[in-house]
Amino acid sequence: MIDLNTYKLIHLIGLMLLFFGFGGVLVTSYAGFTLPKKARIFAMMSHGIGLLFILLGGFGMLARLGLAKDMPSWVYSKLLIWLVLGGAIALAKRKADLAWTMLISFIILASTAAFIGLTKPVF
Ligand code: HEM
Repeated sequence: MIDLNTYKLIHLIGLMLLFFGFGGVLVTSYAGFTLPKKARIFAMMSHGIGLLFILLGGFGMLARLGLAKDMPSWVYSKLLIWLVLGGAIALAKRKADLAWTMLISFIILASTAAFIGLTKPVF
């Protein structure tokens, strides 16, 4: 059986993969390059597998914490942030002029998700 800490690690590895993918796409579009197909797939897959790991680790932790049946409302706000960071890769690819705005907002969004996970606010 996978324990809480392993799920947590999966969650955090997902976060690293997500931002690794973001970085690859954002830096190259900011530089004005078009990535060759295999490099684009590399970055996109890192982002996509990261999303999957975040979800897997997240729901795994919820199960271990006994919160999976009656999910608290903070989970939904994290799911919303997950969705936004999932779609944001398309923005990173196309809107190079917004690179700084994206960097700052993606970090703020991810930090908010982390803060919510750590404090589990009741609202
Ligand atoms: C992109 C979105 C997300 C980010 C950046 C993120 C990030 C984090 C971080 C950094 C932590 C702290 C881990 C620790 O305690 O050391 C955390 C905790 C947690 N996250 Fe997420 N998370 C995201 C999405 C989700 C989703 C979608 C779920 C649920 C399906 C989820 C469920 C949890 C739970 C249950 C914890 C608490 C673990 C505990 O107290 O032991 N997270 N998250």
